[in-house]
Amino acid sequence: MVNHKSEMPTDFEGPQITRRRLVRWLLGFSAVSTLGGVLTPIVGYLWPPARARGSQGGRTPVGAVSDFPLNSGTVTPVNDEPVIVVNTEAGGIKAYSAICTHLGCIVYWHESRGVIQCPCHDGRFNPLNGAVISGPPPRALPPYEFEIVDGQVYVGQAKGPIGPI
Ligand code: FES
Repeated sequence: MVNHKSEMPTDFEGPQITRRRLVRWLLGFSAVSTLGGVLTPIVGYLWPPARARGSQGGRTPVGAVSDFPLNSGTVTPVNDEPVIVVNTEAGGIKAYSAICTHLGCIVYWHESRGVIQCPCHDGRFNPLNGAVISGPPPRALPPYEFEIVDGQVYVGQAKGPIGPI
């Protein structure tokens, strides 16, 4: 008959981990994890990753010319920013930031007035040049670079700071 108790080692020769060392290690790991969790969004906010630009060499296709009929305005995303593409008889197709320069509301095309309008405080902008017509916005809507190639409208970069400053 074999006595199993007597076959078990009595002296363990490997590294000793005391309860105190284990608790210290767990607290250290917890502190580092917490610090990483706090710092990661701060670093991401301060140094955001470069945004991918449009797939057409820095310009974004926003539709065919026929998608922007005369006397209309359409808000469309360009590089994660809202842009309003307007088409007027006097000015043709133009693109402006759709972020109101007052407090940042998104503007829209007011069909009966034929202007770019802000829904928040009745700011109105001229569709020919983005200038303020009336209301509290302190400055014009900045225009965007755009071009028309083979009947397609491409919008590039803003030509000035967008939104409230
Ligand atoms: S946010 Fe546009 S007028 Fe105030």
